Amino acid sequence: MTSFPTVRMRRTRQNEKLRSLVRETRLSVDQLIYPLFIAEGISEPREISSMPGIMQWPVDSVGREVERITHLGIPAVLLFGIPSEKDEVGSQAYASKGIIQQGIQRIKAESPDTLVITDVCLCEYTSHGHCGVIRNGDVHNDESLGLLSRMALSHVEAGADIVAPSDMMDGRVGTIRSALDEHGHSQTPIMAYSAKFASGFYGPFREAAESTPQFGDRRSYQMDPANAREALREVDLDIAEGADVIMVKPAMPYLDIIRQVRDNCDLPIAAYNVSGEYSMIKAAAQNGWIDERRVVMEVLTGIRRAGADMIITYFAPDVAGWLEEE
Ligand code: PBG
Repeated sequence: MTSFPTVRMRRTRQNEKLRSLVRETRLSVDQLIYPLFIAEGISEPREISSMPGIMQWPVDSVGREVERITHLGIPAVLLFGIPSEKDEVGSQAYASKGIIQQGIQRIKAESPDTLVITDVCLCEYTSHGHCGVIRNGDVHNDESLGLLSRMALSHVEAGADIVAPSDMMDGRVGTIRSALDEHGHSQTPIMAYSAKFASGFYGPFREAAESTPQFGDRRSYQMDPANAREALREVDLDIAEGADVIMVKPAMPYLDIIRQVRDNCDLPIAAYNVSGEYSMIKAAAQNGWIDERRVVMEVLTGIRRAGADMIITYFAPDVAGWLEEE
């Protein structure tokens, strides 16, 4: 085996042209998905204090924001709705004139070419803040499935291009697939939050989406952060039930999971660079402790290197601008 001085690793690092030729992983704006919060009953965009730069949008001005990010080349948005009325069964989640249904219609009318992905989960719509219906103090799996598939169907009927169930009930991908197929939507893909971990990194999102559980936590349905083999089982089940894209969430503490899923399946993989990952970087950057642009590009490149095809990130507009400058 040859080694130093014959081999000199620094030869291909001498300048940017050389480095670019040997670069193994690339980040492109085509791979980015931007999450957006649409809130009922507000007239002006409202900043989320724990997520600097991220807003809740009124339905009347969300179109402007979608137009802005579409001009930056971002192909897709992931929508979350925040209703003004919540109840035990999350009725506004599947109401035909609900906030999210109105938002989808508005966005598809104004920016028809932007892909609209919708988060399918009851937690923003239930008074108790859990992702399904409560029976005897716990989230009831099978009774939640019917509501989730009604919700997914109502999103597609309003114009959503892809539905993304994030509730972590067993069997939801299959149930949603059948409901869509039965109603003539056999071409609508499902992006399944397959390996979604019960994470402290969702903290800022819960302020943004007003979806903090009013009792207990989500550990009886979201995954234990300690489990990797179980993540692969979740992925296998979602594939068997008809998922078209697999998601791993959060991203930064779960790069090994992204890699293992990549090595074990052939489906496209999405990674969700979640709210807490965003806010940590923002806070450190605002303190002058890190170089935001450099750190964000490094993090997203790392997520791609781990094996993700696409990344859902609150940094998408910034990254789109930086990529253009490069
Ligand atoms: C809904 C949902 C959550 C996130 C996406 N969909 C919150 C949760 O499960 O508590 C988190 C996204 C983020 O933190 O950016 N269930």
